[in-house]
Amino acid sequence: MKLTEEQKKRIEEEYAEFEAEQYAGKTKEERQKLGQFYTPALLTIQMLEKFDSITKEDTILDPTCGAGGLLAAAIIAGADPKKVFGVELDANIVPIAKKRLAKLGVPDYNIHQGNALNRDCFVFPESEFEELHKGETYKFTDEGEIGKVDFIKKDGTKSITFGLRR
Ligand SMILES: C[S@@+](CC[C@H](N)C(=O)[O-])C[C@H]1O[C@@H](n2cnc3c(N)ncnc32)[C@H](O)[C@@H]1O
Repeated sequence: MKLTEEQKKRIEEEYAEFEAEQYAGKTKEERQKLGQFYTPALLTIQMLEKFDSITKEDTILDPTCGAGGLLAAAIIAGADPKKVFGVELDANIVPIAKKRLAKLGVPDYNIHQGNALNRDCFVFPESEFEELHKGETYKFTDEGEIGKVDFIKKDGTKSITFGLRR
């Protein structure tokens, strides 16, 4: 899909708004353990443009959502905020993602603290996800490589997922 210039500008501006607080004041050294290096706007735009489309029908799950940058950009690209979900291990980062995504209309309970390696964390009040391809491994982002992992909602709706760290 091709993002419009307006969408790209909004993604860059949204990223810039949260850039300073997105790591909750942690140092680079502190962030290394969990791979807390968040996708910059330009890379996010390139990733989104690799999808065929992102529409209001899609469900989006980022199982390691950090400060929520990818999810925010997916909404700007056309996703329904009510169908956007995120899990993040670091309890200090979760409130930042919640605040950021609330501005775009994502319900508070769609973002929560959890361990993406633990199946329980994919149960949300209104949606439940299960992994489609069990046993495959996907490398996540430190070097900018993002695996597309297919999850499926238990009601059968296909979802788009950004990546899973193992
Ligand atoms: C490279 S960042 C990606 C954040 C976001 N997807 C982005 O692109 O901006 C990886 C995030 O995954 C979180 N994380 C690491 N291991 C995790 C796990 N087992 N479950 C959930 N989150 C995890 C880290 O705390 C970090 O915020």
